[in-house]
Amino acid sequence: MLLLMQLIFILLAIISHEYEAQAAFEPPYSSVVVPVNKHIDAVKPLYSVQILTAYINSQYLHANFLIDLDAPFIWHDCILQWNTFEGSCPNNTLCTYPVSCEEYQCTDVRTIYSYQSPSCPPVTNDSTIPDWGYCTCPVNVVNPITGSCSQALLNYDEFTVNTSDGRNVFTDLYGAYPNAACAPSSTFQSFPANVTGVMALSSSPYALPAYLYDPLKRIVALCLPSNLSAPGILLYGTGPYNLLPHSNVDVRSLLSYTPLIKHPDSFGYFINVSSIVIKTRSIDIPTNSTTKLSTIEPYTTLRTDIYNGVVRRFLKVTQRIPPAKPVAPFGLCFNTSINGTQVSIKVPDVDFSLQDGKKWTVSTANSIKQITKDVACLAFVDGGATSEPAIVIGTFQCEDNFLVFDLENSTFGFSSSLLRKQTSCSNFNFTLTNSS
Ligand SMILES: *[C@@H]1O[C@H](CO)[C@@H](O)[C@H](O)[C@H]1NC(C)=O
Ligand SMILES: *[C@@H]1O[C@H](CO)[C@@H](O)[C@H](O)[C@H]1NC(C)=O
Ligand SMILES: *[C@@H]1O[C@H](CO)[C@@H](O)[C@H](O)[C@H]1NC(C)=O
Ligand SMILES: *[C@@H]1O[C@H](CO)[C@@H](O)[C@H](O)[C@H]1NC(C)=O
Ligand SMILES: *[C@@H]1O[C@H](CO)[C@@H](O)[C@H](O)[C@H]1NC(C)=O
Ligand SMILES: *[C@@H]1O[C@H](CO)[C@@H](O)[C@H](O)[C@H]1NC(C)=O
Ligand SMILES: *[C@@H]1O[C@H](CO)[C@@H](O)[C@H](O)[C@H]1NC(C)=O
Ligand SMILES: *[C@@H]1O[C@H](CO)[C@@H](O)[C@H](O)[C@H]1NC(C)=O
Ligand SMILES: *[C@@H]1O[C@H](CO)[C@@H](O)[C@H](O)[C@H]1NC(C)=O
Ligand SMILES: *[C@@H]1O[C@H](CO)[C@@H](O)[C@H](O)[C@H]1NC(C)=O
Ligand SMILES: *[C@@H]1O[C@H](CO)[C@@H](O)[C@H](O)[C@H]1NC(C)=O
Repeated sequence: MLLLMQLIFILLAIISHEYEAQAAFEPPYSSVVVPVNKHIDAVKPLYSVQILTAYINSQYLHANFLIDLDAPFIWHDCILQWNTFEGSCPNNTLCTYPVSCEEYQCTDVRTIYSYQSPSCPPVTNDSTIPDWGYCTCPVNVVNPITGSCSQALLNYDEFTVNTSDGRNVFTDLYGAYPNAACAPSSTFQSFPANVTGVMALSSSPYALPAYLYDPLKRIVALCLPSNLSAPGILLYGTGPYNLLPHSNVDVRSLLSYTPLIKHPDSFGYFINVSSIVIKTRSIDIPTNSTTKLSTIEPYTTLRTDIYNGVVRRFLKVTQRIPPAKPVAPFGLCFNTSINGTQVSIKVPDVDFSLQDGKKWTVSTANSIKQITKDVACLAFVDGGATSEPAIVIGTFQCEDNFLVFDLENSTFGFSSSLLRKQTSCSNFNFTLTNSS
């Protein structure tokens, strides 16, 4: 057992040594890339990344993980095949290796980097694994869709992703070795079909960004697709980032940046919105109101005082559009049918004013949701009088916007709608090429 652990450490040392050697050579890749799919078969629209999680009989198996900017660690539905002693792992199979209850990772994930939910019972140690002599590490996981709590076991895992130069997908693969927990299959019933894991992209040291090393830089670029049949992308690493048809334009040239704000009780991402501007009139955001970015909430949620200000102003600037009876959860809807045929409506931009005069422009594609042929609604919802954070920016507002979480500089980059630049999140060239 001990021998195997030593072997793993030696292997890891060799791997990191190889990376160092590569760094001197300037690797052909600047990032790793995974496709992002949109799902509409769960209670709300959700997005997943596809990762190669297992290598069995010389073949990589794909698994889809829900994208979660808040999760403290990664967990998924995995086959528990303890790699506890030499020869216990079948040939041609990738086995997980348990974290023991005595290791610091176990304590970390149970205490500081744990899910904080009153619905979770206190965790206890599992029984000792025969032939191994240690107890395993049960941890609580909270389903981001339903909020219900379950138990999972923390392991040493292995994920594989493709590398990229920001323009194409390379056949060269990159391995990551995160601690991730295995949860029972039943935990994923409320998830979209074929999505069987949670990919933590937060700033926690147990989220994916913490497990990708030099020469990759700690920069997450996320582009959520609106299209169900053409994937968006998640790139990890520096740019360039290129989208068709302008494959010579680096998307970074379209980005504005604002600081990421630290929040004591969360591993998620926050920015500082000072006002919301609609056709030159601004709705002020009270100071100390926090704005969070979410990949789970479908629509931007505003505290009631802010929501009322936005709706009042929006109503005023859309007077020429016939109203329709509001459809929950929205409070302001429009009639988009004239003589029985659907017409497309165009509304003024909703600008989120940030520090230093930067603004995130939400144009019609991200502010108006078509509900039926007849009805379209302002896709903002009232979060209640005391909602905290005061603003949660949801996924409908992020689709086809290029977003960059730069953990090196602690900044957030955003493009506003790519549709206005004649491209979209579904325009990455996924053609496999050789790096050399
Ligand atoms: C696994 O591989 C080893 C070494 O290549 C071999 O000796 C052993 O018979 C193999 N076991 C199985 C079950 O195929
Ligand atoms: C689990 O066992 C370890 C090692 O014996 C111990 O340090 C830890 O406190 C135990 N945790 C719980 C929740 O019982
Ligand atoms: C990654 O590369 C492998 C091997 O070249 C390929 O089979 C796989 O489809 C690629 N994955 C994606 C998501 O392009
Ligand atoms: C889920 O995966 C199965 C097997 O790969 C496939 O046949 C099915 O179409 C997938 N379902 C969805 C909704 O993607
Ligand atoms: C979605 O993607 C498919 C496949 O690339 C494409 O044919 C279709 O036009 C796209 N739909 C929209 C609305 O862009
Ligand atoms: C904002 O927060 C700071 C620090 O927590 C506090 O000193 C200040 O009074 C707050 N301002 C308002 C308007 O609540
Ligand atoms: C939209 O307006 C038309 C008249 O122009 C009316 O017939 C229809 O019922 C309205 N639909 C809704 C959902 O309000
Ligand atoms: C709706 O239909 C009526 C009667 O056919 C016609 O007079 C009117 O111009 C149409 N309105 C629009 C906006 O097309
Ligand atoms: C947010 O912006 C306001 C005004 O631009 C500034 O006074 C405040 O200090 C900023 N808050 C943080 C946490 O940076
Ligand atoms: C991040 O900081 C480095 C140096 O500290 C700088 O070279 C780089 O341009 C910054 N990146 C962005 C996106 O601002
Ligand atoms: C996608 O990339 C491949 C390989 O670099 C290239 O041959 C192809 O022309 C690109 N596709 C488009 C639409 O530009």
